[in-house]
Amino acid sequence: MSNEILLLNGPNLNLLGTRETDMYGDTTLEDVENLVSSAAEAAGYSVRCAQSNVEGELVDALQAASNCAGVLLNAGAYTHTSVALRDAIKGAGAKVVEIHISNVFQREDFRHVSMIGPVCIGSVSGFGIDSYLVGLQALIMANE
Ligand code: DQA
Repeated sequence: MSNEILLLNGPNLNLLGTRETDMYGDTTLEDVENLVSSAAEAAGYSVRCAQSNVEGELVDALQAASNCAGVLLNAGAYTHTSVALRDAIKGAGAKVVEIHISNVFQREDFRHVSMIGPVCIGSVSGFGIDSYLVGLQALIMANE
């Protein structure tokens, strides 16, 4: 297994910093990627970053991650709908942490359902951008 962590963001997360800033804050995706990369490197891991608005491209990225130390996945709205992502996580066999910036349980009922949660090692929701850093710590601990 490599010491590489995949930071994978799904639909609309490319718009972080400008999209619904009341909900998601004004930190950009590039800022998030830099923050996670720095924290991971300090702990001896490298980070590969990817983002796609396309469900199949997220499936491809998960399939390619089977050798990674783990995946931090904010699947955005696909969290709540995608059997394909769930199957990809299960098939790849990588440790995946489900990440949400907002607290999805304080929002609409349809966001209370996660298709991917049952096949992830755990979930982090509601800590703003810090959700990614909390998820990273969890992933590092899961590899110790
Ligand atoms: C999100 C929550 C999802 O419900 C939503 O569709 C997103 C972002 C979050 O990070 O809080 O796009 O995953």
